[in-house]
Amino acid sequence: MSKLKIGIIVGSNSKDSINRKLAQALARLARDEADFEFIDIGHLPFYSRDDDADYPAVFTEFKQRVRAQDGILFVTPEQNRSVPALLKNALDAGSRPPSDRAWGGIPAAMIGTSPGGPGTSMAQQHLRNILAFLGMPTMTQPEGYIQWKEGLVEPNGEIGAASREFLTKYMQSLLAWVALTRKA
Ligand code: FNR
Repeated sequence: MSKLKIGIIVGSNSKDSINRKLAQALARLARDEADFEFIDIGHLPFYSRDDDADYPAVFTEFKQRVRAQDGILFVTPEQNRSVPALLKNALDAGSRPPSDRAWGGIPAAMIGTSPGGPGTSMAQQHLRNILAFLGMPTMTQPEGYIQWKEGLVEPNGEIGAASREFLTKYMQSLLAWVALTRKA
């Protein structure tokens, strides 16, 4: 069987994003089991419903990249106790026009890191709500509320020893979830 294709969407456009560092290290951790493709959202303009009449190519290309995946892993910061506007905009842009929504039926999982103890848990609860509406079967366990600490990602880009067992299990669960629920 060929490897699963997992699209990774990072909800940050910071050049020093800790969530991107985590995402890259997670992809590295599971690189033998799946093919990972980072789907950039930082270049997407603000969606307007006026776009629906003649959908911009930049959104259509984004939707094509989403549809080409067996599953999507969202790796996102929390902003003001919710999903960053950058990510919400990408979710909106990928959901329109209503007859041509990209997300439906694609398995998803989410994880995120922040310097604070709650580790993006509130953003993830909001994201779950959105993904439910968009029709994405979303992994429920394990949850990935990760506090950013020195050594979580080593300077060489590997997940640090203290978190490797948990995050290896997380990635194995993600791949099992996608294999179970992906579109035929
Ligand atoms: C934050 N941060 C933050 N952290 C958190 O745990 N809960 C929150 O609600 C917020 N809110 C918030 C709002 C705004 C506007 C900013 C800029 C930051 C802190 C945030 O977790 C921290 O900046 C992370 O480094 C962001 O992740 P990236 O962009 O480095 O991946």
